[in-house]
Amino acid sequence: MTETVLLVGGGGREHAIARALTDADCALYACAGNKNPGIARVAAGFETLETTNPTAVRTYADEAGADLAVIGPEAALEAGVADALDEAGVYTFGPREEEARIETDKAFQRRFMRENDIPGCPDFETFDDMDAAAEYIREYDGDLAIKPAGLTGGKGVRVMGDQIDEDEAVEYVRESGYDRVVLEERLVGEEFTVQALVANGDVRVTPAVQDHKRAYEGDDGPNTGGMGSYSDATLELPFMNRDDYMEAVDVIESTVDALDGYKGVLYGQFMLTADGVKVVEFNARFGDPEAMNTLPVLNTDFLDVLTAAREGSELPQLSFAPKATVCKYAVPDGYPTDPEAGAAVTVDEDGAAEIAADFDGEAILYYASVDDREDGIYTTTSRSFAVVGVAGSITEAEEIAEAVLSEAGEDGLRMRHDIGKPDLVQQRIDHVEELR
Ligand code: AMP
Ligand code: GLY
Repeated sequence: MTETVLLVGGGGREHAIARALTDADCALYACAGNKNPGIARVAAGFETLETTNPTAVRTYADEAGADLAVIGPEAALEAGVADALDEAGVYTFGPREEEARIETDKAFQRRFMRENDIPGCPDFETFDDMDAAAEYIREYDGDLAIKPAGLTGGKGVRVMGDQIDEDEAVEYVRESGYDRVVLEERLVGEEFTVQALVANGDVRVTPAVQDHKRAYEGDDGPNTGGMGSYSDATLELPFMNRDDYMEAVDVIESTVDALDGYKGVLYGQFMLTADGVKVVEFNARFGDPEAMNTLPVLNTDFLDVLTAAREGSELPQLSFAPKATVCKYAVPDGYPTDPEAGAAVTVDEDGAAEIAADFDGEAILYYASVDDREDGIYTTTSRSFAVVGVAGSITEAEEIAEAVLSEAGEDGLRMRHDIGKPDLVQQRIDHVEELR
């Protein structure tokens, strides 16, 4: 039977999901707030709608005749879109609002870890009285990370000793008007992501990825949604060993055990510290950009995972091509603080394929938040598009991504050239060696 799949969301992550379903035996329909030209091109239908409106998504699922759904963005999960689709009989690979709290409520997330003895939980306290939070900051012996409890698109966290000092931390909790904050021990080390596909109690993990949240080269500037990311041809990254990776897998498995009936992607953001692997946060969906590293090397049919999840059968074991990937986002000038929209986006996909072939690899273009007008494709104020290089080594994958980006008309666009370059990867290795 041909499945009809509804994809919710229109970013680079969702373009990667769409692409993973393109060769599968399914009819793909998509909906998002913005029309993503890459998704629209491979989908049988594309509807522009507010993805945080469960009724609108459900109505479109009905029209499309969907029997399965995949939700990309956290805001849709928080709004209960999975609940609405499940209730309508459309099996949704994405947690219900209640289970998505593992991402959408950071205070819940930390308390959940503590109550269930999940390994890797940093020392923390939660506050809804900001005077008490300020006092805690003054009295705490050491640096803290200050986290608004709710969703902030990855841009609300402030880390003492890194971005701000003690006075600024006090001012931040007092002035920013958050209802609830989590104050937790500052973790020092190297960050990495492990994403798992989860359903019916089964957990299938994917290779580790390292994202780059800071806006500018050398890890400078404000945090963004993620400027780019890389993965290696092995499950772990060059600065980690297999035991570190397995420690992260253990955290994910313990979390799924403690979460009753979780389904969808469970994304663990980890810090490899001098005391082992710690949890920075969980997300209830694929990472963006990390999905663009993971799905291109997934050899297992993603549709088979979705249908097994729906049928209540065992999830297939995942197999991955032994390839490294480097993903680089092109973002509008001024992103994330003062982004300027309206620059033309021109990427020569045929040229990209030729460049990749020269390296014996692959180049993939993923559209994100662009404005698809009659006379061409233009930037908006969010991340515009990403290029992923896939090859035998991180170095070659990086060269592919750079070569394609250099053809992509850089006027009005910016990117981090350092992501995946040997120098930066070596810095990560040296950093961990210093810590151990
Ligand atoms: P989040 O919104 O939770 O992803 O946090 C954004 C970024 O803040 C993370 O990727 C980390 O770089 C940083 N961060 C969050 N929590 C901590 C922590 N406890 N210690 C150090 N850095 C942190
Ligand atoms: N790459 C970070 C995120 O998806 O939240």
